[in-house]
Amino acid sequence: MTTFNLESACINLQGKSPRAILKAALADFENIAISFSGAEDVVLIDMALQIRKDIQVFSLDTGRLHPETYRFMERVRKHYQIEIELLTPDFQRLDAFVKQKGLFSFYEDGHSECCAIRKVDALRRKLANCDAWITGQRKDQSLDTRADIPEVQLDTAFAGVGKTLIKFNPLLNWSSEQVWDYIEAYQVPYNSLHSQGFVSIGCEPCTRSVLPNQHERAGRWWWEESAKKECGLHATNLTAE
Ligand code: ADX
Ligand code: SF4
Repeated sequence: MTTFNLESACINLQGKSPRAILKAALADFENIAISFSGAEDVVLIDMALQIRKDIQVFSLDTGRLHPETYRFMERVRKHYQIEIELLTPDFQRLDAFVKQKGLFSFYEDGHSECCAIRKVDALRRKLANCDAWITGQRKDQSLDTRADIPEVQLDTAFAGVGKTLIKFNPLLNWSSEQVWDYIEAYQVPYNSLHSQGFVSIGCEPCTRSVLPNQHERAGRWWWEESAKKECGLHATNLTAE
């Protein structure tokens, strides 16, 4: 970590393939974790394992994921014989929130509060102990919030006190089609919801299937405007604007 130079990494990794970005990330950082959403970003795990066997993988278990997603996570764990750390929300904050607002308050006053408790808190806890993390974000997932993401960046939103946190986005320049070509070519396991019209998959109450030619994130928080379709995990996308 001490020798990592963000400026030169940005230049060296610009326009590079996902594999090259992952290779650099895994070589530069020992304490680096892949954030796995239970959707198509399983390709990150597949590629990373070809580079290094001792990868760290975590998932934010909001308690509201689809049964299919939980089953898929288990399949990935067994298929690759890896450990997947499932991070749960802080129970005291969650209990108080549900007691006060019930289980579906996001339909009335937006998803931020629930996402903050069920996802962002747990992510902050995890990343406070990491030097770097890897995400499956892609530019084409959102013109509003992801079009400008870089290969590698400083994550000031989740760095622990007095620490530097680096974030890698190896799939940034891939289209959904390229991801699916990889899944097909290398027989990568995928979430069975993808066969039922689901494209971008998050929590069950906040995800629905999309029609052909609808944008993939149209099924996420569909009752809200597209510019608001970030849940706080990628807060750097919003502050960079
Ligand atoms: S979200 O912020 O809108 O929920 P999205 O579903 O597009 O994110 O996924 C983008 C990337 O964020 C994923 O590739 C993954 O790296 C990370 N991510 C999203 N949801 C989770 C989750 N529940 N657990 C771990 N990582 C996640
Ligand atoms: Fe809550 Fe929906 Fe956010 Fe999941 S996606 S944490 S259920 S608001």
